[in-house]
Amino acid sequence: MTKKIKAPIKQDTRLVTSGRDPQAFHGFVNPPVYHASTLLYPTAEDQVAHRARYSYGRRGTPTSEALENALRELDGEACAGVALLPSGLAAISAALLATAGAGDHILVTDSVYRPTRNFCNGVFKRLGVETTYYDPLIGAGIAKLFTTNTRVVFVEAPGSQSFEMQDIPAIAKVAHEKGAIVLMDNTWATPLFFRAFEKGVDMQIQAGTKYIGGHSDIMFGCVSANAATLTRLKDTVYTMGLCVGPDDMYLAQRGLRTLGVRLARHYQSGMQIARWLEQRPEVLRVMHPALERDPGHAIWKRDFTGACGLFSIVLKPTSEKSVHAFLNELSLFGLGYSWGGFESLAILFDCAEYRTATTWAPGGPTVRFHIGLENPEDLIADLERGFSALAASK
Ligand SMILES: Cc1ncc(COP(=O)(O)O)c(C=O)c1O
Repeated sequence: MTKKIKAPIKQDTRLVTSGRDPQAFHGFVNPPVYHASTLLYPTAEDQVAHRARYSYGRRGTPTSEALENALRELDGEACAGVALLPSGLAAISAALLATAGAGDHILVTDSVYRPTRNFCNGVFKRLGVETTYYDPLIGAGIAKLFTTNTRVVFVEAPGSQSFEMQDIPAIAKVAHEKGAIVLMDNTWATPLFFRAFEKGVDMQIQAGTKYIGGHSDIMFGCVSANAATLTRLKDTVYTMGLCVGPDDMYLAQRGLRTLGVRLARHYQSGMQIARWLEQRPEVLRVMHPALERDPGHAIWKRDFTGACGLFSIVLKPTSEKSVHAFLNELSLFGLGYSWGGFESLAILFDCAEYRTATTWAPGGPTVRFHIGLENPEDLIADLERGFSALAASK
């Protein structure tokens, strides 16, 4: 038996200890990677009685169990269990399929990650689930959007391009009064910076491709559920045959060990660069809820304990050619979607293309940055060169 940890411990200690049982694996620090489908029973009697700790690779191995345990421990007491999925989007669709079905109505924030919207407008519509998008700033005003068949409220704070902050406790209070379940995409803050279950969320989704993996090299997602929603979640995931490759599960668990130190650095460097950008003459506005001037700052300060490295800026109106010149000049920022890895990224985006409940008119071109683990002074120098290229291209 592995030594029992004497509680209470802090979250960064838990990142190191969670899901580990060295004595179950000959004393080795990490769990082994089980590449497994078939399981052999010792006798016919055992097979007929299904007498074995595991039954089939898809239904769980020591590798998946270790990762599930680690993630559950990080979420704390209110989390009853975790389902592992092959991507963040698979985690979103599995959580939605577990909680709504034909004839149901769901409420989804207009700031939601775009592929979540595609799932609702495509698969869910086809299955007879009706979606209403709502203003992310609606707060308790969401009450007026409920109908007799509203089963789910989907929240995401902040929006991963537009960075509106949502009043999740207020929304969850109304949802629960109306008998609905609250699903949250908590990829931006992770359970380290936003304690979803303590704020009223029933199911928390994370794209493990981002900070859990942390190295831009795995496909993984997870859903944590409270006791009221866990059975539906597990049934849905098992019935659909969803599971994760063993190497990606192992890397996700390894990522957890350094999540705290990486996030602290992403937070610190992100703030330094966001503050620097606030002073730049080319920048109209920085969308980062941890900045005092951000409209979502009060909610962030009340409900969150940190920020990751993802935020956006609005540039003062300028030509498309000059924005491209800015981005093309950057040598430390890769031009790529996704985020949460060790490297810095930048993308141009435009929410106006798909918003339906709100109007997106930021006042200039919008660029999203992911601030990686490079030295922030080098990143600032890179951005400075980008702004020079922008000026020269006018
Ligand atoms: C906020 C958010 N949620 C979910 C996802 C989906 O994750 P994945 O790419 O692993 O499917 C992403 C990916 O960019 C994201 O930004």
